[in-house]
Amino acid sequence: MHIHLLGTGAGGGFPQWNCNCHNCRRIRRGEMKGTPRTQSSITVSGNGKDWVLFNASPDIRVQLEAFPPLQPGRAVRDTAICAIILCDAQIDHTTGLIMLREHIKPWDVYCTTAVREDLTTGYPIFNVLSYFRGVNWHEITTDQTPFSISGADGLRFTAVPLKSEAPPFSPHRHNTVPGDNVGFRIEDTATGKNLFYAPGLGEIEDHVLHYMEKADVILVDGTVWTNNELSREGISDKLASEMGHLDQSSKGGIMDTLKPLQRPRKILIHINNTNPILDEESPEHIELERNGIEVAYDGMDIKI
Ligand code: MLT
Ligand code: MN
Ligand code: ZN
Repeated sequence: MHIHLLGTGAGGGFPQWNCNCHNCRRIRRGEMKGTPRTQSSITVSGNGKDWVLFNASPDIRVQLEAFPPLQPGRAVRDTAICAIILCDAQIDHTTGLIMLREHIKPWDVYCTTAVREDLTTGYPIFNVLSYFRGVNWHEITTDQTPFSISGADGLRFTAVPLKSEAPPFSPHRHNTVPGDNVGFRIEDTATGKNLFYAPGLGEIEDHVLHYMEKADVILVDGTVWTNNELSREGISDKLASEMGHLDQSSKGGIMDTLKPLQRPRKILIHINNTNPILDEESPEHIELERNGIEVAYDGMDIKI
């Protein structure tokens, strides 16, 4: 299985257009050891030819150009993306669908009923796309039954229900329903190797830990180092937990959870621009490194 990280930042990317937080200011001025990041998306292939896109970020155009296998150039209009899977209905994970409206046929989009509901009501992207080639929706259930995707040879997928938050525009914003947020186990049917991917994760439930323990690679929510990171920067009084993200540094947080896992390679993804781990010389980044946890960057390429 070939995994390519197209975008490793959270919503807003890094630096964020209007942000002058400690990190955004320093990266613009070249005063920090680190790299900019586009918004959250990965792509996975079992045969090296056909690719499944996980989440479609507003930065998709530049992300596609940065990874040539997605544009094989076999016809005047072409793409190597055979299907799109959505983890949730958040703006940073779905707005790219609008940028992909020139596709020559309906996109095969896989998401839960809850996400489809958001994308036809609060943020009606699917309705807008119906004026172009439309969306061929495939329902993803949360009963953890593995499924395959036509065209995605050699891969098997399992949606893993997660506790997180529905987006601000969702009809279920303060009353989340199963399927508002899912992660995925992606298995290579030839090698048996698997990736666990969960860019938005609010709570480590037992079943989630089980998937993590059994994974060869984990790509997991790296949004914030501390729960009150946004208020500490004077940006917002919202806690990360109120946005459905579990922080890295607290007791029972992401770092505590990942540390004891022996089998998987452990990588943080969906990193908010306020997070000190973006500075490769920060004590927080060094602490992660010491604990065998990596920080994802755009263009990171993984083969398992
Ligand atoms: C989130 O995951 O909470 C999002 O990044 C928020 C956003 O895109 O505005
Ligand atoms: Mn996000
Ligand atoms: Zn910032």
